[in-house]
Amino acid sequence: MRRTRLENDTVTRARVSMIFVCLASIPAAQAEPAAAPIRYDESTRVFELSAEQVTYAFGVNERGELQSLYWGGRLGADDVLPAAKSDAAPSSFDPSTGATPQEYPAWGSALYTEPALKISFPDGNRDLVLHYLSHTVNGAHLVVLLKDVSRDVRVQLRYDIDPDSGILARSARIENHTGKALFVQQSAAATWNLPAGDDYLLHSLSGRWAAEWHLDRRPVLASQTVLESRRGSTGHQNNPWFALARAGTSEESGPVWFGALAWSGSWRITVEPDVKRRIRVTGGYNPFDFSYRLAAGAALESPVFFAGYTQGGLGEASRLLHRFELTHVLPQAPHPRARPVLYNSWEATEFNLTEAGQMKLAEMAAQIGVERFVMDDGWFGARDSDRAGLGDWIVNRRKFPRGLQPLIERVHALGMDFGLWVEPEMVNPDSDLYRRHPDWVLNFPGRPRTEARNQLVLNLARQDVRDHLFRVLDELVTQNDIGFLKWDYNRNWAEPGWPGQKPEDQQKLYVSYVENLYWILQRLRERHPKLEIESCSGGGGRVDLGIMRFTDEVWPSDNTDPFDRLSIQDGFTYAHTPGVMMAWVTDSPNWVNQRSTSLEYRFLSAMQGSLGVGADLTRWREQDVQTAKRLIADYKGIRMTVQQGRLYRLISPRDGSPYSATQSISSDGRQAVLFAFLHSSSMLYPYPRIHLKSLDPQARYRLRVLAGKPEEGTPVEASGGYWMSDGIQLMLKGDFQAAAIVLDRATS
Ligand code: GLA
Repeated sequence: MRRTRLENDTVTRARVSMIFVCLASIPAAQAEPAAAPIRYDESTRVFELSAEQVTYAFGVNERGELQSLYWGGRLGADDVLPAAKSDAAPSSFDPSTGATPQEYPAWGSALYTEPALKISFPDGNRDLVLHYLSHTVNGAHLVVLLKDVSRDVRVQLRYDIDPDSGILARSARIENHTGKALFVQQSAAATWNLPAGDDYLLHSLSGRWAAEWHLDRRPVLASQTVLESRRGSTGHQNNPWFALARAGTSEESGPVWFGALAWSGSWRITVEPDVKRRIRVTGGYNPFDFSYRLAAGAALESPVFFAGYTQGGLGEASRLLHRFELTHVLPQAPHPRARPVLYNSWEATEFNLTEAGQMKLAEMAAQIGVERFVMDDGWFGARDSDRAGLGDWIVNRRKFPRGLQPLIERVHALGMDFGLWVEPEMVNPDSDLYRRHPDWVLNFPGRPRTEARNQLVLNLARQDVRDHLFRVLDELVTQNDIGFLKWDYNRNWAEPGWPGQKPEDQQKLYVSYVENLYWILQRLRERHPKLEIESCSGGGGRVDLGIMRFTDEVWPSDNTDPFDRLSIQDGFTYAHTPGVMMAWVTDSPNWVNQRSTSLEYRFLSAMQGSLGVGADLTRWREQDVQTAKRLIADYKGIRMTVQQGRLYRLISPRDGSPYSATQSISSDGRQAVLFAFLHSSSMLYPYPRIHLKSLDPQARYRLRVLAGKPEEGTPVEASGGYWMSDGIQLMLKGDFQAAAIVLDRATS
């Protein structure tokens, strides 16, 4: 049976509203009526959404527009915001309607900045002016209904505020009640309006394959800045995250407005000042090549755009997002379990898999303390290289004559759980699936098709493709005892045609494909509650808060060079928690740069995230096994702090710094973990002295060295005040040196 658009919406929304329910349930348990997170003042028509540190406010102005009023530090309970009043036109070139900051500006009237919504009607009219109609408040959840001034197009604006972090979740639902189909040409989740200023610095994350997560900083100039993906998925090039900081804001102080779009398809975020230098940030579906036919009575849901504010600098902005992801976004929120130490066979064996070879690796992995054994690409179909087999998710009997079961049983007997690599959305033309269903791939009939890594993209927007993939994966997990899937996605779209679909509905691909992906992930999790999933896309090509609702961890980069990883990991943590950041220890010299590093250095780099091992263990010497055993055991003792604690980026490896250091502190404040790295020392300079953060100045902390050496005379126990003020001098000298120190609270 074909699912209708609205049914699909319901599935996606169900997951989103789980976040909303989560948010709404918190204040109910704690709050008194006076501290209601959402207030509406009837007399001024002002809405105020408040959390511990944040107030967000907008109102209905005299024209009926929903006008943004305030977003920043928490206002006093008795402070009264004046009613919204539209801006006077600064000149005849900027009429008031466009100059006034609106919560969800439609393209109509005189709007010259980015619209949140643009619609084309069948009679040629393209003007849309949204005015307030009604609203409902339910705990921390607010819905404001807007309607066009003459046509029955309605927009439900949804707001939720997390009372702890002040992070808002915004989305929009476009409803067509006009009785005729119309085309949505542009549709955002939200427009965020920031206070006026000429000193904003925009922070964003850019990259490419094997070089993701570079933190870019640029001033907000008079022209618009666009962050986007046109690739059909999130992309390595830009991550749908932004942070806007005022001049003088540092890592640990100053105002920052930040946000992340929960969408794994083509997306766009624009940043631009208006005529009064107030900053407008608009994000949602990428309008490039976008056109969504909305039948009479149908609705289109936007993704969710999360955003927050802090006065605690970029570090606090990250920590708020980390906590929010852990407690509200991830599938195991609010209490995700610790990431198990994982072994992955890819770099060791690539496609050359055998049952005996995998068993040997599994035995060695178990010996060093690994908890999850993952067999990567090459186990299925005719997959001896990347030229064939994708799409045929049937065990290759030449490599595994007895199927997967004996290997899985062996892995279990060794005390580990078993994981498997899949790339469900792709097909090699040389595969049985493609030979059976050549019509299932994205393409424009009669046109050349671009292959990448010898593969084509399946059209997951089709219900038959969606159902087929779900069935195949469900069978795979049901028939084998699989605890984990590494879900890969190794190319971007090209020629995104949808053969068989009506021409006017073809571009729905941009929405339906991703919704069906989420649908499969959600259904798989429901059917297999113990199954964990990693989002991988040739590294970090699909990491965003949309997919993170269904995946327990992500693969930040195919670049496993431990030194490159330091800056990749540093950038990653601006937007995402180290609790989902997989990091493997692989062989030296590393394939990326041919850089040689010690095993201890490689371990310490990977221990900054969720530790994995991806080396060829059969080539390890006895002393390597012993080092690994020791460091994996150490990691297990600190992993909750590293994965779910509060992260301080003490020294960033960015911009060619030879040093880098991070500190994580456990949620209960009882443990702090410090990692420090040196690229190479020069000119006889010592390593910078490290001052820890956020310890209790009165409490005593005992120092434990996991690796490296503090200077002689460093106390084994001292107060939090001592470690923060006098700090620690590490004796790091040479090339690619690293240290790891633990401070355990000695007093209660
Ligand atoms: C992608 C992944 C790698 C590995 C290969 C297998 O590149 O990012 O980790 O799984 O595919 O083909």
